[in-house]
Amino acid sequence: MSTNNGHTNGTPDIKWLEQLANQFFKTAPNDASSIPTYNIDKPASGVSPSAPDQGNVKDISHPQTSLPDPHFVDGQIPKSVAGSGGVASFDEQLQQALNSIQTFTPGSQLPYVPNFSEPAFYFLSGKQSLKDGNGLPANVRAPFDVEKVKADFPILAEKINGRNLIWLDNAATTQKPKLVIDRISYFYEHENSNIHRAAHELAARATDAYENARKKVQLFINAASPNEIVFVRGSTEAINLVAQSWGDEQLRPGDEIIVSHLEHHANIVPWQQLAAKKGLVLRVIPVDDDGQVLLDEYAKLLNAKTRLVSFTQVSNALGTVTPAKEIVSMAHAIGAKVLVDGAQAVSHLRVNVQELNCDWYVFSGHKVFGPTGIGVLFGKEALLNETQPWQGGGNMIKDVTFDKTVYQPAPGRFEAGTGNIADAVGLGAAIDYVTHIGIDLINEYEHYLLVYATNLLKQIKGLRLIGTAADKAGVLSFTLDGFKTEEVGAWLNKWGIAVRSGHHCAQPILRRFGVESTVRPSLALYNTCSDIDALVEALYKIRNKVY
Ligand code: ALA
Repeated sequence: MSTNNGHTNGTPDIKWLEQLANQFFKTAPNDASSIPTYNIDKPASGVSPSAPDQGNVKDISHPQTSLPDPHFVDGQIPKSVAGSGGVASFDEQLQQALNSIQTFTPGSQLPYVPNFSEPAFYFLSGKQSLKDGNGLPANVRAPFDVEKVKADFPILAEKINGRNLIWLDNAATTQKPKLVIDRISYFYEHENSNIHRAAHELAARATDAYENARKKVQLFINAASPNEIVFVRGSTEAINLVAQSWGDEQLRPGDEIIVSHLEHHANIVPWQQLAAKKGLVLRVIPVDDDGQVLLDEYAKLLNAKTRLVSFTQVSNALGTVTPAKEIVSMAHAIGAKVLVDGAQAVSHLRVNVQELNCDWYVFSGHKVFGPTGIGVLFGKEALLNETQPWQGGGNMIKDVTFDKTVYQPAPGRFEAGTGNIADAVGLGAAIDYVTHIGIDLINEYEHYLLVYATNLLKQIKGLRLIGTAADKAGVLSFTLDGFKTEEVGAWLNKWGIAVRSGHHCAQPILRRFGVESTVRPSLALYNTCSDIDALVEALYKIRNKVY
């Protein structure tokens, strides 16, 4: 492994590291006059807009959950931001539509507690809806046909408690388009065989289908070669693979691993287990009161003993998009390796592993409209080839005698036994689907759904949003005063609305905000403003105990 730890004679010289960290700060965090303003085009800075007021307090009983966001100044959306001349952008159109919602005040100023015999919001009456058939306000053109997309997912036509299913549990798993379901059926009807093993027609078809899926994944995340794509069961297995192969082989007592406070249990427990086994130290990057990682605190954790930084690109519990590129380069500057958990990122934003320059990247197929039981470990090819395999068996070997085994190069050396061939092929189809619509358009559309939903949820008295980072993707975590989160989930289910209530397999970050669980609606490309309206209407009913 690299020994470039940026210091000599065993004495860490952190000045250069501070300089490096400073490059990432546009403003000094303790200078209130230079609070960075929220700009939706800007990637995450890692400096919370409210950081100057927070004093790095980590155990807070009253977290600040609002931020200087131009969309929500004093709870009001600013006047139209439409540009001059030409056709208004999707952003501008949606903003205008949001403005008209905000100013729709039948007899009262918002926030308004509706009396359900006399609905207050246009979407409660159904008579004054601003929306067209796409579920978007009528004067907004979606970047793609959302209703057509919805129709691609057969399960979304299900009735739950007599209502159309509204699937807002996408962070737990996404639904599958017919294309994916059909592709898996086709595999079993026409291609099913084991792979890499026989000289018959079906073996050739199955091997081609599987290796084509690997190629699709490669292009989807812009890896340099298909050899960098290892099929595994999911993100959890991918992280355990790295811990038990590279980690077990390379790490020595006293070495340090850094994770962030945002991590899913899958990116905590494998490192804790390895730390206990090998005498390693686990360190945690704190987050600010909005739920963004603090890069200045991170810089202080990096030192000569840091061998690995493992962090999430998007938090499953809060939706925070972390400043991944900066985190990676700061780790690399001291010679540490970096694993990025992309489980919650791949369906929401464009992933480019070469640009990120991470050493490993992991994600699960089922969170990107693919099947369960299939996922991906990306690793840089040279690194994979110099790492010992973690499981032995068929498929991963070149030659076996009773004296010794010669392993395959990557990816084969990490794919022992018969893998989940059909679901890898299904994942390839899911990637085709996402690519066909366009991940950037999906990202744009979901961003506005998030703005739309945040705007409405913030007006519900007693509802506390948890996770208000300027850069967020797809997740709206909250608590509702006077109600257990599971009660809210159960009541929403009554209206056919599926959300997750609980700790989201991320207990440390919820406890950072003083709660054990939240209600977590989470978005995907097939959700519409109408879905959000139904959620908000149901939440008002729950809050007012109008069941
Ligand atoms: N990790 C999944 C979630 O966030 C299951 O719900």
